[in-house]
Amino acid sequence: MQYFSGRFKEKADDLILDFHSSINFDKRLYRYDIMGSIAHVRGLGKQNILTMEESKKIEEALREILEDMDHGKVKFSIEYEDIHMNIEKILIDKIGNLGKKLHTGRSRNDQVALDMKLFTKDEIKKIQSYIIELIEILIDFARKHKHTYMPGFTHLQKAQPVSFSHYILAYVEMFRRDYERLENSFNLMNTSPLGSAALAGTTHPLDRNYTSEILGFSHPTWNSMDGVSDRDYLLEVMSDLSIVMVHLSRFSEEIITYCSNDYGYIELSDAFSTGSSIMPQKKNPDAAELIRGKSGRVIGDMTGFFTTMKGIPLAYNKDMQEDKEAFFDVVDSVKACFTVFNEMVKTMIVKKEKMYEACKHGYINATDIADYLTEKGMSFRDAYKLTGAMVSYGIEKKKALDDFSMEEFNNFSGLFNEDIYEKISIEYCVEKRITLGGPGSESVGKHIENIDKFLKESIENLKSYKINDIL
Ligand code: ARG
Repeated sequence: MQYFSGRFKEKADDLILDFHSSINFDKRLYRYDIMGSIAHVRGLGKQNILTMEESKKIEEALREILEDMDHGKVKFSIEYEDIHMNIEKILIDKIGNLGKKLHTGRSRNDQVALDMKLFTKDEIKKIQSYIIELIEILIDFARKHKHTYMPGFTHLQKAQPVSFSHYILAYVEMFRRDYERLENSFNLMNTSPLGSAALAGTTHPLDRNYTSEILGFSHPTWNSMDGVSDRDYLLEVMSDLSIVMVHLSRFSEEIITYCSNDYGYIELSDAFSTGSSIMPQKKNPDAAELIRGKSGRVIGDMTGFFTTMKGIPLAYNKDMQEDKEAFFDVVDSVKACFTVFNEMVKTMIVKKEKMYEACKHGYINATDIADYLTEKGMSFRDAYKLTGAMVSYGIEKKKALDDFSMEEFNNFSGLFNEDIYEKISIEYCVEKRITLGGPGSESVGKHIENIDKFLKESIENLKSYKINDIL
């Protein structure tokens, strides 16, 4: 801050300049900083704090600076510490004393709070678009594989058969919640801190409603101390995105497992696999592993910034500058993961036969035998016990339940009739589970219809968002 100051007699040491400076990473906020400055200077004009002519001249110059920045023509300097002061210095160099009027009734504290909010809003929408793109890819699989049967697992032990559609739709629900969670965070954070100034507002008659509106916020923040020191929205979006990464990581983990030799339920395209430098037969799912790995990094960024925030007194403190690298790393990592993950999933091959074959082993229709006996009048607990004995017999004889002869069935209970074979077929076990949310294709079809509706509404919602209006 020394550059603009009359308070200091000595120049800051280079070491300190370097330590304080955030320009090397906050320069990516330049567009949002200029948007905020344009709104502010329009507000100053509207309220006669500056003349309309002054306000227009400053806005024009800011637009030219933006253009130069877009074309990479501007050099930043650590001497001006951060993006806010770099732009102000460029403005003053360009239009002289008039440029010095821009900062009237404003502080870097409300300025940086505003820039980060504008940036965050944009990033939320970008990430929501990736989520929607992934859901669209997944719903295509779900539409195609209603009758592709596979084992469902609990404890990574084969449990009951489901369909690949049903399995995929479980992830669709996770990503739908991620989308909604981000939407909720967006709505909660959508308030403008501009006009909070350093911490105590200003004596200049700013119209905070006006600047809030032209910047696309729902209303101004209600308390100037909170306005400059609130970073809840960053904590919240980082939490949302950590959950996103947990979902991508769990999905990656399953992709890794399912394309391993012993499962072989899916195959990744060559473009998303790597070989080994020594083992010629290898086709490794490196991309999925790296995405799983990056979940740790995102959760780490989130945890770090939570720790930074927890002891900070009101209002602004320089610790808060630490929000940027953590948050930038989170959004960059999440976007990079989606770019790869969406394509990887889109091009994966589903091995229908392998999945079906896997259903035949592991006694995954045992529950259905117990249900059959229950329907015929046996209590569930007795039926459960008897089926357990049948499984044990099958293991001993190396026989699937479907391969028992009628005589073998009747040795266990006289309640078994010929229809048992149909009732424990994989198709029957899946297709008859049609309660809401179940794996039967009838339920799955209804779920897909519901997702189609969600997709239509969300795409409309994303299209209607325009953050750069002011530019
Ligand atoms: N570079 C600072 C940050 O990112 C901007 C706000 C600085 N304000 C201050 N009073 N030092 O947080």
